[in-house]
Amino acid sequence: MTKQFHDQKLSDAALAQLFNEARSYNDWLDKDVSDEQLVAIYDLMKMAPTSANMQPARIVWAKSDEAKQKLADCAMDDNKPKIQNAPVVAIIGYDIDFHEELPWLFPHTDAKSWFEGDETGREEGAFRNSALQGAYLMLAARALGLDCGPMSGFDPEAVNEAFFADNTRHRTNFICAIGYGDPASIFGRSPRPDFKKFNRVV
Ligand SMILES: Cc1cc2nc3c(=O)[nH]c(=O)nc-3n(C[C@H](O)[C@H](O)[C@H](O)COP(=O)(O)O)c2cc1C
Repeated sequence: MTKQFHDQKLSDAALAQLFNEARSYNDWLDKDVSDEQLVAIYDLMKMAPTSANMQPARIVWAKSDEAKQKLADCAMDDNKPKIQNAPVVAIIGYDIDFHEELPWLFPHTDAKSWFEGDETGREEGAFRNSALQGAYLMLAARALGLDCGPMSGFDPEAVNEAFFADNTRHRTNFICAIGYGDPASIFGRSPRPDFKKFNRVV
């Protein structure tokens, strides 16, 4: 029997940690993130839904000074120190040939055949679902007590060349610094719209 949680809304403290008080950080306390923590992030994020369980994200965790410098070299000037000073930066890429893995990832039907010969559709599905996985990664990191600093201000072709040259079917979506955020590094909270502003219930 599948466990359900219909009467178990998360506590206000948990909602604060995940959403209401969580911030995007620009600089980092001098505190390491272990490889075990990266595995723990992945072990949570992989449980969240993707279309046909396609799991298209291919993540490179830039942790060494050399890897972070290589990534910073591909980024806008303002983002360079945010990468160099972070304990680790996740490069959230995606595999446009994700369908090759579907026979074991989605075994109850022949989902691989849905995507064969449709590279445009695969690119769209991989981009959409890897962006979702990047969002799950941020929430997983926050759930584990870590902070995030997502960034898209970089040259994606340069990042592809630097980190995915061994497989040209892998492309970069966005990057996310992870660590223990320095509270002195955040900007004032930007406005968030009321429900009515961008929503309609029809
Ligand atoms: C996909 C994505 C790309 C972003 N790119 C950058 C970036 O290149 N540089 C930067 O400093 N912040 C970047 N941000 C951070 C956003 O500006 C920040 O998350 C937003 O203003 C909300 O801030 P808050 O979480 O502190 O409220 C990015 C965020 C996301 C989700």
